[in-house]
Amino acid sequence: MLATNGVFYPILGLASCAAFIYMSFGDLAWDIGTHVRGPEMSFVGRNGTRFTVDGKAFYVNGWNSYWLMDQAVEEVSRPRVRAMLQAGAKMGLTVCRTWAFNDGTYNALQMSLGHFDERVFKALDWVIEEAKRHGIRLLLSLANNLEAYGGKTQYVKWAWEEGIGLSSSNDSFFFDPSIRSYFKTYLKTILTRKNHLNGIRYKDDPTIFAWELMNEPRCMSDASGDTLQEWIEEMAAYVKSIDKNHLLTIGLEGFYGSTSPPEKLHVNPGQWFSTVGSDFIRNSRVPEIDFASVHIYPDQW
Ligand SMILES: *[C@@H]1O[C@H](CO)[C@@H](O)[C@H](O)[C@H]1NC(C)=O
Ligand SMILES: *[C@@H]1O[C@H](CO)[C@@H](O)[C@H](O)[C@H]1NC(C)=O
Repeated sequence: MLATNGVFYPILGLASCAAFIYMSFGDLAWDIGTHVRGPEMSFVGRNGTRFTVDGKAFYVNGWNSYWLMDQAVEEVSRPRVRAMLQAGAKMGLTVCRTWAFNDGTYNALQMSLGHFDERVFKALDWVIEEAKRHGIRLLLSLANNLEAYGGKTQYVKWAWEEGIGLSSSNDSFFFDPSIRSYFKTYLKTILTRKNHLNGIRYKDDPTIFAWELMNEPRCMSDASGDTLQEWIEEMAAYVKSIDKNHLLTIGLEGFYGSTSPPEKLHVNPGQWFSTVGSDFIRNSRVPEIDFASVHIYPDQW
């Protein structure tokens, strides 16, 4: 992860020693039961280009496991989730990025427009508690640009079913006012969700490292980048109007777009990537966006 103005963080060293020490307190609690609390946590904040906790530097050292909520729905697969968090904690990792959405597919969180499955929400509650017990914070992603687990395509289908979809383009997720309001309904529901295991609303839970608006947003129908920019501005302000505790990021792959300085464009994996409607610098400058991300696929790019 990068800070907004592109400074890399040193990741190893002292921070992982500190992490190992409090992980070993976590060990004692692991097998006693769900109600045993892990180490107390404070919210992650930022100061300039640094992440901070209690005024001290916080180093993100983490991994992706998109499937934690999905695998926590059924009792039988929960041990996999626990084992993953346990492995991360033992390696001294501090943050796990995972999906906090599943729209309209098998074991969906949002089963149909604005209707949520309590069983799946309970699974997400459990993931958050389990992460906390292992001293791991979560970066929770809120939607998918791709079709896996529903994604923007599912919202567009719902709009058509309601008879109010304006366009068949997947990108109407970004520009159709009705679909924007559907997404806000979901945002409000998740941010204000009260965890059934600890009574804490998600917006008040420091186990959550940050929110991520969408996995790898692209708006190919508007290469100028204006559509995606407006969507980010609106959704970021909406999230912060409900939740002032958590950091917020977009979920960008990190491409330079049409308003980036021309000398940056050669850094994109190919010329075409400046036309997908995202724009690393402009998007990341939205005031409510606290930090930026780059997704790296070394074999392809
Ligand atoms: C932010 O960091 C600077 C130095 O890097 C420090 O002087 C200042 O007190 C910090 N601010 C807060 C609110 O911690
Ligand atoms: C929506 O996106 C998917 C890929 O994610 C694509 O296969 C499909 O054709 C798109 N539909 C429209 C109407 O653009």
